[in-house]
Amino acid sequence: MDGNGRWADKHGKTRQFGHEQGSSNVYDIFLSCVELDINTATFFAMSSENMNRPREETEFISILLDNSIKKHLPDLLDNQIKFKVIGDISHLPENIKKTIEHAETVTSMFTRYKLNIAYNYGGQWDILNSIKTLLDNKLEISNENLSKYLSTGSDFPDLIVRTGGYKRLSNFMLWQAAYSELIFLNTLWPEFSSKDVSNILNNYKLIKRKFGKVD
Ligand code: FPP
Repeated sequence: MDGNGRWADKHGKTRQFGHEQGSSNVYDIFLSCVELDINTATFFAMSSENMNRPREETEFISILLDNSIKKHLPDLLDNQIKFKVIGDISHLPENIKKTIEHAETVTSMFTRYKLNIAYNYGGQWDILNSIKTLLDNKLEISNENLSKYLSTGSDFPDLIVRTGGYKRLSNFMLWQAAYSELIFLNTLWPEFSSKDVSNILNNYKLIKRKFGKVD
């Protein structure tokens, strides 16, 4: 979800305002995905590296996360959406951790729709965590086991979309992205709309995915 800062700048507003606009877009975009039969989506709110931004900004985004969960928990329950935060949330204040844990627990029985927020998430962190779990449990270090113990389980993204004009993964799902289709848009995240979701999906449907094989 890149481009909140530049969007704010363009409109003569503060970065905080940009993040507010960006966070208010998340649930609506998820619903657009569901309408088009995309049942799982992960929104990259903060990378491990983004946590080195000024404290006011990271704190502000953690409060936005808390507020967004509280605001949308009734919708998650009504629409039977499983909610999860992936990333290292150990440093967050206890009240925010409680909000996250509560939302995860009360939606944990849902299986059809999954909304993940990546917060203080890094693909490298995810891979290391999985390897540590395998070692701690004396499990074989295999492709299958490593995948299984990632924060996403063995759910790999078919498609990764980055808004905001840069063409890089910025430490997002490095293992899981092995065969994902990558889409980079100049659109700034607060301007990203349901129309973009449907355009992307129409283009995606034209792609022949071969996973390294021949036809
Ligand atoms: C990148 O834009 C955006 C972020 C690092 C934060 C994304 C956060 C949100 C969308 C709000 C939080 C949402 C939830 C659900 C908690 P940038 O600030 O790097 O933009 P710039 O490149 O234009 O400066």
